[in-house]
Amino acid sequence: VGKSSLALQVQLANVTRLCHTKSIVTINGQFPGPRILAREGDRLVVKVVNHAQNNVTLHWHGVRQLRSGWADGPAYITQCPIQPGQTYVYNFTVVGQRGTLWWHAHASWLRSTLYGPIIILPKLGVPYPFAKPYKEVPIVFGEWWNTETETVISQALQTGGGPNVSDAYTINGLPGPLYNCSTRGLVLRISDALFLFLSMIRSQFCARAETFKLKVKPGKTYLLRIVNAALNDDLFFGIAGHNLTVVEADAVYVKPFVTDTIMITPGQTTNVLLHTKPSFPNSTFLMAARPYVTGLGTFDNSTTAGLLEYRSPGGPHSVSMKKLRLFKPSLPSLNDTAFVTNFTAKFRSLGSPQFPANVPQTVDRQFFFTVGLGASPCPGNQTCQGPNGTKFSAAVNNVSFAMPTTALLQAHFFGQSKGVYKPDFPSNPTHPFNYTGTPPNNTLVNNGTRVVVLPFNTSVELVMQDTSILGAESHPLHLHGFNFFIVGEGFGNFDPNKDPAAYNLVDPVERNTASVPVGGWVAVRFLADNPGVWFMHCHLEVHTSWGLKMAWVVLDGPLSNQKLLPPPADLPQC
Ligand code: C2O
Repeated sequence: VGKSSLALQVQLANVTRLCHTKSIVTINGQFPGPRILAREGDRLVVKVVNHAQNNVTLHWHGVRQLRSGWADGPAYITQCPIQPGQTYVYNFTVVGQRGTLWWHAHASWLRSTLYGPIIILPKLGVPYPFAKPYKEVPIVFGEWWNTETETVISQALQTGGGPNVSDAYTINGLPGPLYNCSTRGLVLRISDALFLFLSMIRSQFCARAETFKLKVKPGKTYLLRIVNAALNDDLFFGIAGHNLTVVEADAVYVKPFVTDTIMITPGQTTNVLLHTKPSFPNSTFLMAARPYVTGLGTFDNSTTAGLLEYRSPGGPHSVSMKKLRLFKPSLPSLNDTAFVTNFTAKFRSLGSPQFPANVPQTVDRQFFFTVGLGASPCPGNQTCQGPNGTKFSAAVNNVSFAMPTTALLQAHFFGQSKGVYKPDFPSNPTHPFNYTGTPPNNTLVNNGTRVVVLPFNTSVELVMQDTSILGAESHPLHLHGFNFFIVGEGFGNFDPNKDPAAYNLVDPVERNTASVPVGGWVAVRFLADNPGVWFMHCHLEVHTSWGLKMAWVVLDGPLSNQKLLPPPADLPQC
């Protein structure tokens, strides 16, 4: 078992994108943040020193944190934030996981600049269940605001409206060649003709240096480790003239399948194999990402792009760039739910003897959660920009989660939950309605810090149903502390008498983030074998801010190796 010690300095740095320079919160002055490389079974000791002016925490998204919830990171759930000038050491072991995950800040909207990939290699001597790739390349999507993101969200929460949309999507922090600095506008939804024209005059685009380039050799296989770290949008991604073979999702191997486009929600990771052309093509290929949009709100509908360039080893470029033709991938249209449904259905656990799918076959507790938007009364003397002068809210079973002022995990561990949280989160909607029909008259949510308490090793089945309140919309729900198996999904209202018959209990995909389809439902199962307090929330940051979040408290088991470990001495206090 290896041990890696890292020191991460949270500090301000000036970064320029889209012709705007701003001071942003970074790790060690890098944007995006550093990649963390580990091996299955490693212990990671990550010392985080906060030199910035914001309260911060870091989260290791998808790392199970077995019994080590103190290192999970969501602010006010497992820890109080690391205040300016403070230090906290995240100390945890990566058990039984290998693949691509990521880390990000988990306080307010700081994850807009504090994020990076986590690459967990298999144990020494254990091969991938596919041919060894020639090279491995992280591809991390993000979003860039020309203004300060913390201001964007605090303004939105104050006015009760929606936040400003980002100015660009990025690939590894770079917005790509399609931004025209002279008009300060993004070139939207480019047509083929326009694109060819743009590629000819592309030297006029000052963002040329802000383009991610993947230089490849012919006839090789590359493993692309794709992460969607964008704040608020599901994304389509493709590379012109090339197919992608999906081999892993959320650090779990899947049965390989070939596609020309992927859809990835915020929070998800997807590993794909890219086989390059057998010889030098007389072209350069664009890779591009743009959103899959189901909601009615405003969104960044721009396209981010990078280049796939064929390079001869050592020598100069085989063909001069100017003579090259550029090809752009054809991505599905912004609201192509049919593509997404079809794509999502292709994910299956590998389910091999070495990597079995341990799907819970029996269920101890069933939950039915509605997830969706709603409204809250506008606090006196304010004018709110939400529907009918209300404040935008979002809720699970009509409970809009109120952030506590101390960490839930601490309150739980020290038996001081009184006044911090209530163990009465509803298992079912208190006022059921037709979720995909006309919403009820009263769409006001209830605020509360309520949790579900589960005995150790409870086998849980959870159906999450999108509601049409303020419009149907897909929601990427992320569960901390566990992977769940996605055993079923469908459109319309979930039917408990009919739908479970079609569940896949053999090889369902195992993930940490599942998309609740627009106007539909998803059913997941997991075994609550990890004692602690585990956050579950929509990974669209704006929905989390509006309250689409809740927490599970999993009690200790009877054996000594089934108990939450005690907190580290340097655990921040509120
Ligand atoms: Cu990637 Cu709770 O987050």
